[in-house]
Amino acid sequence: MPPANQRAAFLSFEGIDGSGKSTQARRLAASLRDLGHPVTLTREPGGSPGAEEIRALVLQGDPDRWSAETELLLFTAARRDHLEKTIRPALSRNEIVITDRFADSTRMYQGLRGNLASTVNALHDLMIGTEPDLTFLIDLDPELGLSRALGRQGSEQRFEDMGLAVQKQMRAGFLALAALHPRFRVIDGARDPDSIAAEILSLTLAHLG
Ligand code: ADP
Ligand code: TYD
Repeated sequence: MPPANQRAAFLSFEGIDGSGKSTQARRLAASLRDLGHPVTLTREPGGSPGAEEIRALVLQGDPDRWSAETELLLFTAARRDHLEKTIRPALSRNEIVITDRFADSTRMYQGLRGNLASTVNALHDLMIGTEPDLTFLIDLDPELGLSRALGRQGSEQRFEDMGLAVQKQMRAGFLALAALHPRFRVIDGARDPDSIAAEILSLTLAHLG
């Protein structure tokens, strides 16, 4: 049974590749479900059938496959579909939506790395216009993150192939963004998964009241 006063909430996980976002998003979803909350667990790029098709276009192939501008449009198109088809419907059912990455990833990877910060923000305002209520930034040394990410096998290596210097720039950028917005909670990702999960659950329950 959902808690009697169940309210919608929109939570995101952000951080560099391999920082533990997917692990912790899954664990938070499981803990909240155990407490009776209805949860939609989703991810970007992807999270809806159309957006998952775009995911394959942006994550596979040569690192130079797309210009920074084209890539930004693809990520934004995927996010718009994700918002329309998955996120908004779940929030209107009063569910807790947990997304593994959202617009802050675009601010970092296309805005900061692609040097398109003002275009990213303009396009966000025009086409997305929504921010999470709470954002968990899992902060981790990029060398550790990269070795964890490269340990996973798969074809989605386009971004991991960008290397350590980019991941260092992303880490610094995420921390700077977190300092600007009160919705962020910075989580030390260099601990065991249980301790991290316990901290995130407690911060989430505090937010839900
Ligand atoms: P992300 O989604 O941020 O890329 P993942 O959750 O997929 O990160 O984790 C990357 C890899 O590191 C996975 O193999 C996962 O099992 C492992 N991992 C996740 N969290 C931890 C942790 N706290 N300590 C050690 N390894 C971890
Ligand atoms: P993801 O599958 O979350 O990778 P990981 O589990 O390794 O963190 O995301 C894949 C890549 O997509 C990641 O390197 C970041 C990148 N990305 C962007 O460049 N812009 C975006 O808007 C999003 C959502 C992701």
